[in-house]
Amino acid sequence: MEIRNRERDAIPFTTKDGSTIREYLHTDVQSLAEASLEPGQATQRHYHARSEEIYLIVEGAGELEIDGETRAVGPATRSSSGREANTSSRRGRVACVSCAAASRPTPTTTRTSRSLERVSESPISFARGAPAPELIPSAELAECAYAAAQRDGSRIFAYGPGGGYAPLREWVAERHGVAPGRVVLTVGGLQGFVFYAAEQLARKPGRVLVEAPSYDRPLKVLAREGVEIVALGMDEEGLDPDALDGELRGRSDPPSFLYTIPTFQNPSGRTLSAERRDRLVEVVREHGLAVLEDDPYGLVRFEGDAPASLRELEGGEFVTYTSSFSKTVAPGVRTGYFVLPESDAASFEERAVSTYISPPFLPQAIVAEFVARGRFEPNLAHVQAELRARRDAMLEALAAHAPDGSSWSRPDGGYFVWFEHPRANTTDLASAAEREGVSFIAGPGFFTPGSAQGISTARFAYSYETPERIGDGVERLMRLLG
Ligand SMILES: Cc1ncc(COP(=O)(O)O)c(C=O)c1O
Repeated sequence: MEIRNRERDAIPFTTKDGSTIREYLHTDVQSLAEASLEPGQATQRHYHARSEEIYLIVEGAGELEIDGETRAVGPATRSSSGREANTSSRRGRVACVSCAAASRPTPTTTRTSRSLERVSESPISFARGAPAPELIPSAELAECAYAAAQRDGSRIFAYGPGGGYAPLREWVAERHGVAPGRVVLTVGGLQGFVFYAAEQLARKPGRVLVEAPSYDRPLKVLAREGVEIVALGMDEEGLDPDALDGELRGRSDPPSFLYTIPTFQNPSGRTLSAERRDRLVEVVREHGLAVLEDDPYGLVRFEGDAPASLRELEGGEFVTYTSSFSKTVAPGVRTGYFVLPESDAASFEERAVSTYISPPFLPQAIVAEFVARGRFEPNLAHVQAELRARRDAMLEALAAHAPDGSSWSRPDGGYFVWFEHPRANTTDLASAAEREGVSFIAGPGFFTPGSAQGISTARFAYSYETPERIGDGVERLMRLLG
C-alpha cells in the first residue's frame, strides 16, 4: 500500500508480507517505515508507534492518502477522527497525521498531543534497561490472554504446580534439551536470582563471586542480606577464568556460588569468548563450583554466531541456567525460567510452593499461547532489527561526538554500551545530564557496594529510545564531557 503526499509525490509504504499497514501499526511500523521510505522522497522526520495509533510527523502541509482515505495534514495535528489536536506554534512546520485502525477507539486529542510531547520534549533515557513501548507486542499479547483464558481457564485460574504452566515448561525444556521437570518457571529473572541465592546460600553458606562490573540489583540483594561479595575482574572478552581460579585457590573456605552473565552482559554489553567459556568450565568442574548463568539477552543477538552456554558446555551438573521472556516478549509478563541440575529441580519447585503456592499462570499461559501461535521467532527478529538500529545509532553518535580518550564496548546484541572516559566523574556527569534532559546510570552502581570503583565508567542503554533520540542524547552528553 502507499501513503501518498499529493504535494510532494509518493511516500511509498510497501508491506513485506501483504499485510495492510493497519495490521502493522502495533508491531512493525518503525522497521516498515525505515525499509520502505525511498531516499530523497521522504518528508517524514519522526514516526512514533503507540499501541493503537501511529503518528507520522512530516514537514510541510499537504494531503496524505492512507489506505484509500485522504487525510489533510497541516500545521495542526489531526487525529483519525479529523478533529484538530492541540499543537503549539513552537512546533512550527511539524504536522502530524494519526491513522488509527477504524475498529479501534479513536485517539483522543490529549493522547495525540502527549505523544508529540514525547517525541519533541521528553527526557531521553539511557538509564532504563527496558524495551521501548513500541517494541512490546501488546495487542497480540492481549489476544493471547483472551485465547488462553478461554481455552484453559479452569487450569489457569486454579492452584497448580509450583514449577509453572506445563505447556510453557515443556516448550522451554525442548529448546534446552532437558526433561520438563528440570524447568521451573519464575516471576522473571530477578526473582529467579533471589530464589537461587536463597537456596544455594542455605545449602552452602559462603561468599558469592560476581563479575566486576555486574547487574546492580543482585548486588543490592546480596548486600542487603549481608552476604560477602567478591568481585572478579573482566575485560573485553568477559570474566577472566584465571582470576576465578586464583580466587578459588587463594582461600581455604569454599564460596557459595558464582553469578555470571556471560552474554551481552548487563552492564557492559560484553560477551565471554568461546575460549574463556571452555576454560571457565574446566575451573568450575575442578572446584565443584555452583554457578548461576543468567542469560536474558542471549537471544537478542544482532550478528555473529551464538557461543554455547556454560550449562551446555558443562553438562548441567554445576551450572544452573536462567533466562526470561522480558527481553524477547515483554517484561510485563513477568515470566522467566530456570534450567536446573537434575538434583535441584525438586527443591526449587518446593521452594516455589512454600513461597507462593503456585505462580501466576495467566502470564505464563499468555507466553505459551504467543509461542504456540508461532509469534516468538518473528517477534524476536523484529526486536533484534529494532535494537540493532538503536545500537548502531549509539555507536555512530559516540564515534562522532565522544571526546578523545573515551572508550566504549561494541556489543553484538543485548541492550547496553559500557562507556569510559578516564577523566570523567560519571556520578557528577549524571546530575549534569539530568539537567540537559538525558539520563544514564553511572558506573559505580554496578560495582560492589562501597568499593568506590567505576567512577569513570557509565552504562548507556540503547533499548528504550529511537535512533534519532539516541543520536541527540549522546551528542548532548558528550558536549558535557567535552
Ligand atoms: C542480567 C539480568 N538478569 C535479570 C534481569 C531481570 O529481568 P526480569 O526480572 O525482568 O526477567 C535483568 C533485567 O534487566 C538483567 O539485566
